[in-house]
Amino acid sequence: MKIKNKYSKIKPSNSLYKLKKVSKNIRERRSIYANQFIKGEIPELLLEEILINATWAPNHKMTEPWKFIIFRGKYLRKYGEYMADYYKDFYSELSLEDQKDKLSYLENYPLNAACMIGVILVKNTKIALPEWEEIAAVSSAVQNIALTCTAHKIGSYWSTKGVAIDYVAKFGLSENEKSLGLLYLGYYPEALKPSTKKRTPLSKKVVYLD
Ligand SMILES: Cc1cc2nc3c(=O)[nH]c(=O)nc-3n(C[C@H](O)[C@H](O)[C@H](O)COP(=O)(O)O)c2cc1C
Repeated sequence: MKIKNKYSKIKPSNSLYKLKKVSKNIRERRSIYANQFIKGEIPELLLEEILINATWAPNHKMTEPWKFIIFRGKYLRKYGEYMADYYKDFYSELSLEDQKDKLSYLENYPLNAACMIGVILVKNTKIALPEWEEIAAVSSAVQNIALTCTAHKIGSYWSTKGVAIDYVAKFGLSENEKSLGLLYLGYYPEALKPSTKKRTPLSKKVVYLD
């Protein structure tokens, strides 16, 4: 069988202003990190919209294999302290002053986030689905959150570092539940420079069979 590597002759535009709303929103969604956030609260109704959109993700056999924990207020500080404690041995070779700086950076890192969302995989105990299918569904829910945030000029990123996974796991998960880390949500300055990360051209990622 001959596999052709054919791609559109129309050059896909990378210029955001020319794109239709949906494509613009998808391509404007970029990870924005918590050290780039400025303080601001997400109105309750908007947070609810973000979370409802998460639940409209596709999911095999309607298992809806997700659960979210919203961390706000003092929990941002608690997580900063948790990170500093988690990494303190990691920095033990540094001078005391450098250690202090690193740990203080970690303590303060989440403080400008509007909230963090603990992402939890809830494995269905009645229907045996491959775990990857349920993780795929949760990832789709996370993408819905990120895209809704983009549309509302809220930055977000998914942290799956050990420290994030372990923190969420502390909040009473059942045996069939697994922490998938934390999503940071927050406002960012209008002048924030857009990320320069690029994507590989379709010609290297897509084959057409016809
Ligand atoms: C499942 C998943 C886990 C990620 N975990 C981390 C992480 O732990 N730390 C981090 O800095 N970024 C993390 N990211 C964000 C990626 O680094 C980011 O999506 C990638 O660099 C592409 O940039 P963009 O999101 O701005 O397009 C994660 C993204 C995904 C999808």
